[in-house]
Amino acid sequence: MSGISWTPDTVSSIFAPVSTPAAKEADLANFVLVLSGVVFIVVAGLIAYSVMRFRAPAEEQGSEPPQVYGSAQVEAAWTAIPLIIVIVLMLATGRVIYEIQAAPQPPTAVEVTVVGRQWWWEIRYPKLGVVTANELHVPVSDSLTRRPTFLTLESADVVHSFWVPRVAGKTDLIPNRTNRMWVEPHEPGTYLGQCAEYCGTQHAFMLLRIVAEPPEQFARWVEQQRQTAAPAPADPAAAAGRRVFLGTVCASCHAVAGTVANGRYGPDLTHLMSRATIGAGVAANTRERLRAWVRNPDGLKRGVLMPAMQIDDEYLDQLVAYLVTLR
Ligand code: CUA
Repeated sequence: MSGISWTPDTVSSIFAPVSTPAAKEADLANFVLVLSGVVFIVVAGLIAYSVMRFRAPAEEQGSEPPQVYGSAQVEAAWTAIPLIIVIVLMLATGRVIYEIQAAPQPPTAVEVTVVGRQWWWEIRYPKLGVVTANELHVPVSDSLTRRPTFLTLESADVVHSFWVPRVAGKTDLIPNRTNRMWVEPHEPGTYLGQCAEYCGTQHAFMLLRIVAEPPEQFARWVEQQRQTAAPAPADPAAAAGRRVFLGTVCASCHAVAGTVANGRYGPDLTHLMSRATIGAGVAANTRERLRAWVRNPDGLKRGVLMPAMQIDDEYLDQLVAYLVTLR
């Protein structure tokens, strides 16, 4: 085990919560597991004891054992005790569900709208004027100030489910319906999650990450994300790529703030290079992978809705030179 580094980026267990709702849920899960464990040990122990203790001696084997009707007291006990256990579990679960679902939104909360799409996450901060994809940045709370993030969950096509196990339980994104949930991380870090409801061919690559940052760092990120793209890249190849981008169908599906490109069908690319991955986690966001992606998206993510544009190599290089300026 010593070779594996369990940084926050690789753990995605509900038993390692870093956020208020996840912590409440982990406590409940532990309570249910302990209670179930005790029931298992008692029942399995009684069975094992009975099997051994009441085994027929060798000379009696083959004949019928004495037939006993039973015991009213024992039957009452095995009805009442499980009933009490079930009621305790029900009350404990109901309390946690209520505490999470009925939690009021404090004035310091960040508001985010998440739209599930085949197969990526559109992320909008309506009050902050920020649009991004697949990487949800949130501030962390500390002992003095609560800074939870309240999410409005919608779907543009089919049912998806938002799940970052260390941060909160899963909530579905359902067409024509608005769901809500909230997260409140206390430790800065990058937490991995993914779509948890089968939504088509690339469901497995509808990955998601929450980047929890100290408030000053979150404010800097917001400031940077609010900026529009530079009007004219200095690099001639990038400037040519910008013309390719705006002159082809790229601009009808993707938006780049500060240009005429305002498509919403694909991810907003204004700050493309500030994201760690492309294709909702299918590849690292490097210049080389970006080129492979634009040349033939289906080669990296089979079934993806972005078509291969059949751009020749010269234009492709220019286009990629432009895309890497979108920071
Ligand atoms: Cu979206 Cu599975």
